[in-house]
Amino acid sequence: MTTTAAPFPAEKTALVTGAASERGIGRVTAERLASEGWAVAVADLDPIASKSVAEAIAGKFGVRTYGVGMNVADVEQVNAGIDEVEANLPQLVAVANIAGISNPTSYLDIKPEEWDLVLNVNLRGPHFVTQRAARSMVANNVGRIVNISSCSAPMGGGTFSKTAYSTAKAGVEGLTRATARELSPMGVTVNCVAPGPIDTDIMGGTLSDERKEELAAGLLVGRVGTQADIASMVNYLVTEEASFITGQVYDVNGGLWFR
Ligand SMILES: NC(=O)c1ccc[n+]([C@@H]2O[C@H](COP(=O)([O-])OP(=O)(O)OC[C@H]3O[C@@H](n4cnc5c(N)ncnc54)[C@H](O)[C@@H]3O)[C@@H](O)[C@H]2O)c1
Repeated sequence: MTTTAAPFPAEKTALVTGAASERGIGRVTAERLASEGWAVAVADLDPIASKSVAEAIAGKFGVRTYGVGMNVADVEQVNAGIDEVEANLPQLVAVANIAGISNPTSYLDIKPEEWDLVLNVNLRGPHFVTQRAARSMVANNVGRIVNISSCSAPMGGGTFSKTAYSTAKAGVEGLTRATARELSPMGVTVNCVAPGPIDTDIMGGTLSDERKEELAAGLLVGRVGTQADIASMVNYLVTEEASFITGQVYDVNGGLWFR
C-alpha cells in the first residue's frame, strides 16, 4: 500500500528546543523559521528566558510565538510543555531538537551521574520530544522532525566533548533512522544535522579568535561555522518540498571530514 502525507496547513508551528541561548543554534534557527512565516514555539530550561525570546521573535518577525520552560530530559515536562504549545499555537508541523549539553570529561574519569546527565539531555531529550510531537503529527498525517547530532558521533569525539557526548550523539543518529522508519509511512519525516565546530558558547564558553583560528585550520573552508549555517539546513529539511528526504544525517562541517 502506498501512503501520501497530508499537505502542510496554511498556519503551522515549529517547536525549537534549546532556543533561548542568546548565541545558540536554537535561537538562530527559531528566528530563521519565523522569517519563513512559521509560528514558533521556543522551548528551553528557563521559562522566563523562553518567553522573553518568544516575545522578541514575535516582535521582530510578526509571527505568533509561544515560550515554554521545559527540561527535555523530563518526560512529564515535555508532555505538558507540548500540550501548552498546542493549546496556544497553530498545528504543530515541525520540531527541531536542538537542546543539548557538552561534556569534556575524559572516559576514565567520568562518573555515572555525569554520564547519565549527558545521555539524558542529549538522547532521552530528543526521544521524549519526538515521541510526544509525533503523536500529534501522525494524527494529522504530516510532520517534520530534525535532530542535531555532531561531528563527534562519527569521529568518536575528537572535539571539545568526549565519549559520553559522542555516544549520545551517535544515539541521536540511530534515533533518527529508526524513527524515520516507523513514522515516515504516517507522514512524518525525520532527519538529522551533524554540525562541525560552530561559533557558539557550548565548547566551554565563547570562542577566542585564537581558538577559532585553531579550529578553522582543520576545516577545508577556512572558517568555523555560524549558527546560520545550521539553521539554513534545518530550515530546508522542515519545508514541505523536503518530503522525499527521511532518515538522513547531513554533515554541515566545513569539510572537517566526509564520507
Ligand atoms: N556549537 C557547536 O560547535 C556544535 C557542534 C555540534 C553539535 N552541536 C549541537 O548543537 C546543539 C545546540 O548547541 P549550541 O552550540 O547552540 O549550544 P548552546 O549552549 O548555545 O545552546 C544549547 C541550548 O540548550 C539548552 N538546554 C540545555 N539543556 C537543556 C535541557 N535539559 N532542556 C532544555 N533545554 C536545554 C540550553 O539552555 C541552551 O539554550 C546542541 O545539541 C549541540 O550538541 C553544537
